[in-house]
Amino acid sequence: MCGIVGYIGNRKASEVLIKGLKRLEYRGYDSAGIALCNNNSCQIYKCKGKVQDLEKLLQDKNAEGSIGIGHTRWATHGEPNDVNAHPHTSMRGNFIIIHNGIIENYSKLKAGLEEEGYVFKGETDTEVLANLFEYVYLNHLNNGDKISPEDIIRETLQMVEGAYGLVILCNDYPDFMIAARKGSPLVIGIGKDEYFVASDATPIIEYTNSVIYLNDDDIAIISRSSLNLTNLKNMKKKPDIQKIDLKIDEIEKGGFDHYMLKEIYEQPRAIRDTCRGRLDFRSKSIHLGGLHNIFDKLAGAKRIIIVACGTSWHAGLVGEYLFEEFARIPTEVEYASEFRYRNPIINKDDIVIAISQSGETADTLAAVQMAKNAGAIVIGICNVVGASIPRETIAGVYTHAGPEIGVASTKAFTAQITVLTMMAMAVGLANKGLTEKEFSQLVDELYIIPEKIEEILERSECIRDISEKIKDVSNSIYLGRGYLYPVALEGALKLKEISYIHAEGYPAAEMKHGPIALIDEKMPVIVIATKDNSYDKIVSNIQEVKARKGVIIAVVTEGDVTIKSIADYVIEVPKTDFALAPLLTVIPLQLLSYYIATMRGCNVDQPRNLAKSVTVE
Ligand code: F6R
Repeated sequence: MCGIVGYIGNRKASEVLIKGLKRLEYRGYDSAGIALCNNNSCQIYKCKGKVQDLEKLLQDKNAEGSIGIGHTRWATHGEPNDVNAHPHTSMRGNFIIIHNGIIENYSKLKAGLEEEGYVFKGETDTEVLANLFEYVYLNHLNNGDKISPEDIIRETLQMVEGAYGLVILCNDYPDFMIAARKGSPLVIGIGKDEYFVASDATPIIEYTNSVIYLNDDDIAIISRSSLNLTNLKNMKKKPDIQKIDLKIDEIEKGGFDHYMLKEIYEQPRAIRDTCRGRLDFRSKSIHLGGLHNIFDKLAGAKRIIIVACGTSWHAGLVGEYLFEEFARIPTEVEYASEFRYRNPIINKDDIVIAISQSGETADTLAAVQMAKNAGAIVIGICNVVGASIPRETIAGVYTHAGPEIGVASTKAFTAQITVLTMMAMAVGLANKGLTEKEFSQLVDELYIIPEKIEEILERSECIRDISEKIKDVSNSIYLGRGYLYPVALEGALKLKEISYIHAEGYPAAEMKHGPIALIDEKMPVIVIATKDNSYDKIVSNIQEVKARKGVIIAVVTEGDVTIKSIADYVIEVPKTDFALAPLLTVIPLQLLSYYIATMRGCNVDQPRNLAKSVTVE
């Protein structure tokens, strides 16, 4: 979603900002802009479209200045156009701001400001905030009050309901910028006589690895030579300076055409890293350090509730099968957005697991808060180190997938399933849902999963050929049973989000309760049908589709002859344990979506309307 970058130092700010905004492009956006301050005057350049369009706009301008802020906007209030793009200036020009998040009481605040004579250029909640800062500031000035800009920000933010990650420039105080956070992440990079501010660390890491993650209610006053941290209650805070271990090549394409393809190919490495130091092949054991303090409670849980959104929710569904099978603990999987707004029953013996790649998804974060307030133990499974969800949960396991830049989640999904598998196995062994022999066989099998994924990736040519055959369809159906039903949902999501082909995932047996009416010779049906205990049943489902002339693309276990004789196309994956099959079978589906989308000329890394980290509800 929206991206923030700010710079104060001695470099040419426009270069730092444009480079930073490019690094943030992966988050999804529809307009971009920067403000540059030079010799006590600030210029704003902004436009609808991409950072490239902004660069063109800057070409013949004198874009000088060593202080500046930049933003990529993903429209919420008001359409994507030049006026609604950030930065926003207050009516009399005193404040220039960029903002991530949503000001919920903005219409009430706007009405009040209009009564005071404020006129608005656009429709954004951010412009309301810029004018509110100015209104409060000028009121104090007119009353002769001696008040610092920091106090103005503090006083104004008390009037605001909602979420914000904000960077503010104040024209009367041209030598510093102010950053404030509530619910929308901000990280400050510390250089020598320079500071960087960003919505995540990607624009910062090529300059410094020393960072401070702001907490909710923090306000940072940043000049070239100092950083002063306080909070909304005006309490002084000691900055917690951390070292980040993120390398620049991890956020670059590394010779691949797209981030998504790179990330699909990174999955063997991502799973190995996620298992490293946790899955011990020699001693046949699993150690999850981040769960140490609550492991007994997890093993003794009466119920597990998994909350997540999108692809992470699909990983959660696999988790449900794993926890119920290995650990015999009743498990429910909830869309975080539904969970938070109904009145769910949460008992104190329940364990809530929040799954999120970004760790910033607004609905999942709100579900975490709600579960905490109800007294549940909340565990996080997250990819981004230091994000809000790991900080809000008392225990958790990081996936070590590395930065996921492509908007469509791939390696984060398989890393999440890897963590859930290790958790369910460890709990299963502890509470005797699994015998030692079963556990040890699973350890062996999980250990070699990355090699098996490598084998599938080597066969990508066959998947590309199938993609060529079906790339022009308008609709598709994905079917799976048991562990492979969530894989069907995930395959369908991948296809629709990057190729814009309508795709639906169903449990295969549900097909005859409605969707079968859609089958004709134009309908590709992608069936995930590796050998497991429902194999015969899914073969019957394939027959039902064939009888209605549907086109079958089947993902099957190597050497399968039965399905090969019925299906139009087959993609083989190596044999594995039923419970680990999602880790293999999703790979061809990711590739299928990728190839189809690129053949249709779609922007796979930044699909239309989508954002990487959904920080608004
Ligand atoms: C789909 C996708 C989204 C995310 C969802 C949750 O490819 O990436 O569906 O899975 O927005 O995001 P996280 O995992 O960051 O909470």
